[in-house]
This record gives sequence, structure tokens and C-alpha cells, in this order.
Amino acid sequence: MNFYPIFRPLAFRLDAERAHRATIAALRWVPPHRPPDMPASLRTQVAGLDFHSPIGLAAGFDKDAEVPQQMLSLGFGFVEVGTITPQPQAGNARPRLFRLAEDRAVINRMGFNNRGQPAAFERLSLCDHRSGPIGVNIGANKDSEDRISDYVSGVRAMSQVADYLTINISSPNTPGLRGLQDAGMLEELLAAVREARTKKPVFLKVAPDLDERDPARIVKAAIDHGIDAIIVSNTTVSRPALKSKHAGEAGGLSGAPLRALALDAMRKFRSASGSEMPLIGVGGIGNADDAFERIRAGASLIQLYSAMVYEGPGIARRIAKGLDRLLSREGFASVASAVGTEKP
Ligand SMILES: Cc1cc2nc3c(=O)[nH]c(=O)nc-3n(C[C@H](O)[C@H](O)[C@H](O)COP(=O)(O)O)c2cc1C
Repeated sequence: MNFYPIFRPLAFRLDAERAHRATIAALRWVPPHRPPDMPASLRTQVAGLDFHSPIGLAAGFDKDAEVPQQMLSLGFGFVEVGTITPQPQAGNARPRLFRLAEDRAVINRMGFNNRGQPAAFERLSLCDHRSGPIGVNIGANKDSEDRISDYVSGVRAMSQVADYLTINISSPNTPGLRGLQDAGMLEELLAAVREARTKKPVFLKVAPDLDERDPARIVKAAIDHGIDAIIVSNTTVSRPALKSKHAGEAGGLSGAPLRALALDAMRKFRSASGSEMPLIGVGGIGNADDAFERIRAGASLIQLYSAMVYEGPGIARRIAKGLDRLLSREGFASVASAVGTEKP
């Protein structure tokens, strides 16, 4: 039963951040149960992990790992919690989260508000990881004097309770963070992460706002340092044409207006990496056509967040069903066989 059409008008009467808190509070009541059965065509393996569906929940929804199990039960094939920093931090001043309903978009400048890694560790250690992979997205504290050491300590602290870790250097809301994507810093960061890591897969999450030569350079650095997959992409600081009154708010834009930009970034990363580096497509995915397009452009897995704000968590199952139909209509036996098959 889909309760979201009833819940949404109530939630949309609240400001966006309160609505988000109310949603998490409501989800905590969903008893974790076995995830819905998924079509066999959707089963896939990336970085040695098994996924019963390639449709994942992107980071930022469950920042403190409060409901990963529930989100898996509701039909997401995997869930990425975080971003979680070593120390708890309050994030930016409110308001810092805006719904742009006319644009099916969101702008956020949350600034890594979270309760810190030790608290999340406790909760994650109680999770049953058999329902699907739970990834932990890690970041650096805003006032950290040594951001690289925050990532190193994050990798050390969270490996034991994560199925994979994501190094997030692409949030626009922590000043200077995206500078870690620059040549010298990226090499230094990835070398330090490599030293600290265990056998758990490590993914790297990048911004969509990159220069022409960045994808090739980032792919090379990722391969050289043993990164297992690249997540393309985080929110954009650019502003494609928007209708909503909140269009001028500072922060990262996500949802439908990000789709073309994130798809373009996916194509660039695919052309830079061929099939050597698995890619995870995120940004503006709202239906099965978008998911299929991103997979054909090179994504082995996809994630979403903003579309769920407008459609509710049932979106994961709906996209999964639609994707199964598209795969069989186009003659693909599996997700893996469709990855990167787009004709240039
Ligand atoms: C409110 C909000 C908070 C987010 N917080 C994070 C975060 O903490 N870490 C992160 O890596 N990405 C974060 N993201 C980015 C999403 O994971 C995703 O990359 C982006 O929203 C694009 O996907 P979408 O268009 O499906 O929302 C956040 C997005 C939103 C809307």
C-alpha cells in the first residue's frame, strides 16, 4: 500500500527540513522486513558486492544511519548513509533546505550536519546487512585542521560496519572541500586512504561541475590508488533555468534540473574509464527511463534522492519494475549487459 499520496500534502505544509525529520521519524516505525523480491535481471555485482536491485538511495537522506534497514525493506537495492564526519557538527544556519516543487528539484546547503561517526557506528553495528549493501559516506569536519586525516580516521572508524565506504569530496557546502578533487590534493588524499583501508570497497564521489580534463585525471588517480568505483555525481552549484521562487538560494541543486548535467558527466567518466572503473550514476533520476539511460551511458548502479521527496520511497520499486521491462524490451538479459551500451 502506498501511503505517500496521503503523507505528502501534510509533509509539504512543513518547511522542508521539518518534513524531512518527520519522514525519518515515521520511517523508524516501519518494522524492518525482508525486501520485496526483485526480477532476476536486476541482480548485479559491483566491487565484489551483491545487489538484488541496482537502484540505491543516495547519501544525505539518512545522514545519521537511522533507517537504512527500513529503506532496504521498502525496495532500495542498497543504501548509502552519511555524510558522517569524525566529530558531530551542527551544519549551516537554517533555513538550509528548499523544495523547488515547480522544478522537481531541491537546493540544500546543509553543511554536513550529523551526529558524528561514533554514534553512527553504534547504530550500524546493529544492522542486518543481508537485506542489501549499506554504504557509509564519510567527510571532513568543517573546522578540521587536517581534512585528509579526517578521511583517514573515517575509513578506519567505519570500515567494520560498512559494506562499502564513499569518500565524499564533492559537497559544495563545506568551504574548500571540493578543492580535494584538484590534482595534488587528490593524489595525497587517495594515497592516505589506500594506506588506511581494509578489504572493504572504497568509492569516490565527485561533483558534476568539473573542467573538461578532470574526468580523465580523476579516473587515472582512482585506478592508480585502487578505488573500487566512482559515484557521478553530487549536487551542482550551477543554476540551469529554474521556475521556483527558491531558485536563487545558495547551495547544491539536485533533482530534475541536474539530470542533463549528471548524464553528461557520466558520459565523460565512461569515455575516460571504459569498463576499467565501475561508475555509479546519480543526479536527476526520477523514473525507469532515466535509470536505463544512465546505465546505458555507463552506470553499473544508480542512486537517487530528490525524486523520492516528490514521489515517496515506493519510487525504488517502481523504477526497478520499469527497468526490468526496459531491459527485456531492448533484449538485455541483465543490468550488467546493458552498462555502457549507448551508441555515441
Ligand atoms: C538534502 C540533501 C542532502 C544531501 N546530503 C549529501 C551528503 O551529506 N553527502 C553526499 O555525498 N551527498 C549528499 N547529497 C547529494 C545526493 O546524494 C545526490 O548526489 C544528489 O542529490 C543528486 O541526486 P538526486 O538528483 O537524485 O537528488 C544531498 C542531497 C540533498 C538533496
